[in-house]
Amino acid sequence: PQKIIIDTDPGQDDAIAIMLALASPEFEVLGLVAAAGNVPVEQTAENACKILELAGRLDVPVYKGCPRPIRRPPINAQHVHGDTGMDGPDLPAPTLTPMPQHGVAFLLDTLASNPAQTITIVTLGPMTNLSTAIIQAPDIVARAKRIVSMCGAWAESGNITPSAEFNAFADPDAAAIVLVSGLPLTLLPLDVTHKFLITPERLEKLAALPGRCARAAYDMLNFSARFDLKKYGWSGAPLHDPCTIGWLLAPEFFSGRRVNVEVEVSSPLTLGATAVDWWNVTQRPPNAEFLNTVDAAGLWTLMLERLSKLP
Ligand code: BDR
Ligand code: CA
Repeated sequence: PQKIIIDTDPGQDDAIAIMLALASPEFEVLGLVAAAGNVPVEQTAENACKILELAGRLDVPVYKGCPRPIRRPPINAQHVHGDTGMDGPDLPAPTLTPMPQHGVAFLLDTLASNPAQTITIVTLGPMTNLSTAIIQAPDIVARAKRIVSMCGAWAESGNITPSAEFNAFADPDAAAIVLVSGLPLTLLPLDVTHKFLITPERLEKLAALPGRCARAAYDMLNFSARFDLKKYGWSGAPLHDPCTIGWLLAPEFFSGRRVNVEVEVSSPLTLGATAVDWWNVTQRPPNAEFLNTVDAAGLWTLMLERLSKLP
């Protein structure tokens, strides 16, 4: 199986991405690194532990990452995800606790101790941990096979400001460091994730699955759907973060282009906006695979099939 590390700020959609990965024999999940994002890192670490416990995967370690963005005050998305960051299901306090090692140290140790180009890093939140690892030891991070990130927005407007997507906006300096790193990078921006909506019909199908994981996923998405209906008038929440794992499982469901992507780090008005050189007008070399379509029906069927395998 493909070895992956998931850096995440759960987040209902993060939780479902993690469950999708745990349910897929194509992956060996080496660990979860908690990021500060939707809620502070203490809480995202606890949420990560709750998800693993729910899935019966106490063998997967959780590490706490950086408590705040590289050079800005922290923001959060409690207005979207609720006070816990993962509102919806009533999950018990976890018995699992984060490992003592720092998340950035775990990333670097794991990349250093495994053969080069064997580990994929998936980021589902602001990229503070990965960028810190890049600053500390670029040669070690270069051993990663690929970075797959939910980040950015281009033809689609932003979801936290008119021009920026939340993960890019929360730590734009981190995103900038990753974008110039030269690492092989796949971005799943709002251009994709806003096309992967959990419609009421899809939610119904999820409700019909047996198992406590599917039940929790249903409760989470039901919570998100209420918010998104109010905010966008959409009948269904976008499933942002699962698109990353979905792309690793079934890249044929997605399309996009290898392009140059940069992120705004200074203008207050467009902070965190991703500038995507779709037509190569700058002639800067491509630094990312930027995806912008998804076969939502196909991905949803795959997700249901996988989630049905969890306890
Ligand atoms: C991203 O922001 C978070 O709130 C979600 O979990 C997702 O990672 C979408 O912009
Ligand atoms: Ca997230």
